[in-house]
Amino acid sequence: MSTDGVDPGRRRFLTATTSVIGAVGVVAAAVPFVSSMQPSARARAAGAPVEADISKLEPGAQMTVEWRKKPVWIVHRTKQNLEDLKKLTDKLADPDSKVNQQPPYCRNYHRSYADRPEIGVMIGICTHLGCSPTYRPEVAPEDLGPEWLGGYFCPCHGSRFDLAGRVYKGVPAPTNLVIPAYKYLSDTKIIIGVDDEGAA
Ligand code: FES
Repeated sequence: MSTDGVDPGRRRFLTATTSVIGAVGVVAAAVPFVSSMQPSARARAAGAPVEADISKLEPGAQMTVEWRKKPVWIVHRTKQNLEDLKKLTDKLADPDSKVNQQPPYCRNYHRSYADRPEIGVMIGICTHLGCSPTYRPEVAPEDLGPEWLGGYFCPCHGSRFDLAGRVYKGVPAPTNLVIPAYKYLSDTKIIIGVDDEGAA
């Protein structure tokens, strides 16, 4: 016999009903979350390729997408940027991308597809100890000196890379930035993490 006047059988029923309602509530709440996870966030979490729309990426601008929990930069280099890349050869540790840090189709001075040299794609993680370098496209800013033609500066230990992710000589980072496999789905859409060879 219950001391608070509630029949134990009735209490059990109420408890069970409440649990069922609670469970339904959880399922209902989970549905929108699961749908919002499909397919992009779920795919990303699993390391699947990700698509990027570059239709609004103006010359001189950069956007970042996440792939396999890493930042991937997509930079739209200007014609002047591309000219400047050719002037940097003597200052770089691996100007011809001899070290295997990129797919074969990116082994050129701009480290991107030959028919889309203006668009650069690279993993935004410093090859020294893994900080994320800062995009510094401006020419000769006071803090980087008169010879700076635009590139990436790592604030952790001062490594410098050009706008193709090629590392300068004499800095802590040993190699160029990594370029992932990628390809164009259209003029304005890139998929990162897969190419025509199916490489990741
Ligand atoms: S992590 Fe970039 S210079 Fe050390």
